[in-house]
Amino acid sequence: MDKLIIKGRNKLYGKVSIGGAKNAALPAMAAAILTSGDVRLSKVPHLADVTTMVALFENMGISTTGYGGTTTDATSGRSVTINTSRMNTYEAPYKLVKTMRASILVLGPLVARYGRARVSLPGGCAIGSRPVDLHIKALASLGADVSIEHGYINVTAKRLTGAKIVFDTTTVTGTENIMMAATLARGTTIIENAAKEPEISSLAEQLVNMGARINGAGTDLIEIQGVDQLHGCSMDIIPDRIEAGTYLIAAAAAGGEVEVTGCNPRHLDALLFKLNEAGIEYSETADSVMVRRNRDTWLKSANIKTQPYPNFPTDLQAQFMVLLTQGDDTGIITETIFENRLMHVAELRRMGADITVENNVAIVRGKTRLMGAPIMATDLRASASLVIAGLIADNVTEISRIYHLDRGYEGMEEKLSKIGAQIERVKA
Ligand code: UD1
Repeated sequence: MDKLIIKGRNKLYGKVSIGGAKNAALPAMAAAILTSGDVRLSKVPHLADVTTMVALFENMGISTTGYGGTTTDATSGRSVTINTSRMNTYEAPYKLVKTMRASILVLGPLVARYGRARVSLPGGCAIGSRPVDLHIKALASLGADVSIEHGYINVTAKRLTGAKIVFDTTTVTGTENIMMAATLARGTTIIENAAKEPEISSLAEQLVNMGARINGAGTDLIEIQGVDQLHGCSMDIIPDRIEAGTYLIAAAAAGGEVEVTGCNPRHLDALLFKLNEAGIEYSETADSVMVRRNRDTWLKSANIKTQPYPNFPTDLQAQFMVLLTQGDDTGIITETIFENRLMHVAELRRMGADITVENNVAIVRGKTRLMGAPIMATDLRASASLVIAGLIADNVTEISRIYHLDRGYEGMEEKLSKIGAQIERVKA
C-alpha cells in the first residue's frame, strides 16, 4: 500500500487547477442509464470512485468509451461516452457497492427505465451508518415494489407514477436518485426538502438536455414532469468545490499565496466567509480564488457547523479543523451531517493537536505547533486533512492508507509539489 511522505513547513506559492467534481460525475454517469442514446461527459476526473462506477457499468454490459485513456495533464479530466444498448443485468453487486456507496445512484435510473433493479445495500462506512431508507421510501411512493433480501434491495415497477415526496432529512444522492427516477414516471413528481447542492442543479441541467422536464433544482422544491423517453446528451462536469476548498484551506494553513483556478467561487461562499473570519485575505475572479497569508501570526479562531448546502460542507470539516489548530484561541466544530465524522481527531492528536470531542462537537485549541508523525488516513476527506496537517508540521509526516485519498483527489501530490510542498508517494 502506498504512503505519502511530507516534509512540512514550506509556504505554498503558485496556481492549482481544479478538476471535475467527483460528486457531479457519479450521478451524471448514472443518468446515462435513463437512455439508449450516447451520453458524452467531459471533464470527468480520474479518480478511484469514477473507476469503480466504470467497473460497475462494465459489469452490467454498459459501454464506457474513453475513460481508460491517459493524459499528461492531471487536471484536464477525461471524456467518457456511455451507452447502455448492450446492458445485460440490472444488478449492482456487493463487491462494488461496498467500495463506493454512491453506486446506489443506479437504483432510480434502473427502475425508471427497465422496471427492475437489484442493488446491494451499502452497509456502514467509516463516517457513520449512512442508511438509504429515504431513497427506498421515495421509490415506493413512486409506486415501486421494494423488498430487501439477502442484503440486496430488489425493486420492481411497471411504470413509476409521479407523487409528492417529502424527504425527512435533506439527502443529496437521495434527491438525485428520485429526480432521475421521476423523469420517466407517469405524471408529476414534487420533491420537497430537496437537497440544493450545485451537483443537483448540474444533474438537472443534464437531464433537461436529455429531454426531461424539471423545475426548481437548486431550491428545496423540485418539480419533475415525467416524459416517455430521454435521449443522449453532451455535458461538462462542474468543477469540484471540495477539491478547490481543500487547496484553499491548505494554502491558508501553510501560508504563502495560492490561486485556485478553474473553480466556481460562488460554490465556495460558506468556506470563503469562514476563511475571512479567520483573518485570511482572498480575492476572486469569475473562475478562481487567490488566498494570501504572508505574516507568521496566528489566525483568528472561528466556529463552524456543517449543514447542507449552501452552509458549510461536511466534506471540508476535517480540513478546516487543521486550520483551527493555527487559531489564536479556541474554535468549535459542530458536525451535524454524519455521526462519526471526527475520526481524524485521534490522528491529529498524534501530531500534537489539542482537540477535545464531545459527541458531535470538536473543541479545537489554537496556537499549536504540529509535529510530524506516522499517521493513518481513515476516510476520504480525513485523509486530505492529514495532508494539510503534514504540510504545516515540523519534520516528517508519513501517511498510510492513502487509497482513501485517491477516491477523491486527482494527482494531489503533483499539484502540491508544483506549489512548493515537499511531498512524495512511496510504495510501502
Ligand atoms: C453526499 C456526498 C458526500 C457528502 C454528503 C453530505 C455524493 C456522492 N456524496 O453523500 O460527499 O458528504 O452528500 O453533503 O454526492 N440519510 C438517511 N437516510 C437516507 C439518506 C441519507 O438517514 O436514505 C442521512 C445520512 O445518514 C446523513 C444525511 O442524511 O446523516 C445526509 O446524507 P446524504 O446527503 O444522503 O449523503 P450522501 O448523498 O450519501
